[in-house]
Amino acid sequence: MRNPTEENLTDIVLKRIQADNARDQEIIEKLVKHLHAFIKDLEPTEKEWFKAIDFLTRTGQKCDDQRQEFILLSDILGVSMLVDAINHTSQADITETTVKGPFHASAQEFEMGTNIARGEEDERGKPTVIRGRVMDEANNPIANAKLDVWQSNDIGYYDLQDVNQPEMNLRGIFRTDESGEFWFRTIKPAAYPVPTDGPVGELIRASGRHPMRPAHIHFWIQADGYHPLITHLFVEGDEYLNSDAVFAVKESLIVDFKKNSNDEDAKKWKVDTPFYDVQYDFKLAKK
Ligand code: BEZ
Ligand code: FE
Repeated sequence: MRNPTEENLTDIVLKRIQADNARDQEIIEKLVKHLHAFIKDLEPTEKEWFKAIDFLTRTGQKCDDQRQEFILLSDILGVSMLVDAINHTSQADITETTVKGPFHASAQEFEMGTNIARGEEDERGKPTVIRGRVMDEANNPIANAKLDVWQSNDIGYYDLQDVNQPEMNLRGIFRTDESGEFWFRTIKPAAYPVPTDGPVGELIRASGRHPMRPAHIHFWIQADGYHPLITHLFVEGDEYLNSDAVFAVKESLIVDFKKNSNDEDAKKWKVDTPFYDVQYDFKLAKK
């Protein structure tokens, strides 16, 4: 087919697609249809189109084994949460999901109660106890569930971003006991900006947005026979809960970091007073 025009080009490209399975065919066709529609609607100049290609090129170049700029792009455009919403409809008896984000790393497994804050973070941070249960939809305990947790420090940095933190600081894997219970010690996390030193930062600034995420702790919970749960617990009262840079806040995941000054409780949980006492029960869906 020769002589492409603005009117016939989409159909010409679509006729050329012959994927060897129906889902690939659908994905590629829709990519072409929506991309062409976007371009026809926008009518970019050639200079603008090359700027877009340069942006995507630099986004790829920014990725390495510690940094995933394309995930960040998907996150700040709300695409990650759209995929989450399509794949995990909200159900009253199951804990809600949210984005995984780019800062997960394979941590060590610790005994229940271990303090995951080490070095300066432990000395400087506000002591916090996180405790609760992992259960099924009918509130039956799930024993031996694996909780993989990770968080930023008290000034908003993950160990991966901060040479001053010990390696694998503020990360750990815990397993629930026979009653589905878990607990560990940490420090209260702080709000932080998503990384803005790359092309995604340029896009955030060009959009007139702030890059902040409300303070949170990440959880990835896995148990045999259950769907894995990737979620966060957000700190109630954080000033960015209504304007998370990646749109990941769900009401049911906001928890009270309750200040506890009771000496007996502090002794039980092996912390000094006052400490933040956080209780949350997770519920997993059966496969
Ligand atoms: C995070 O919570 O670690 C995160 C999520 C999305 C983008 C950047 C960071
Ligand atoms: Fe995070």
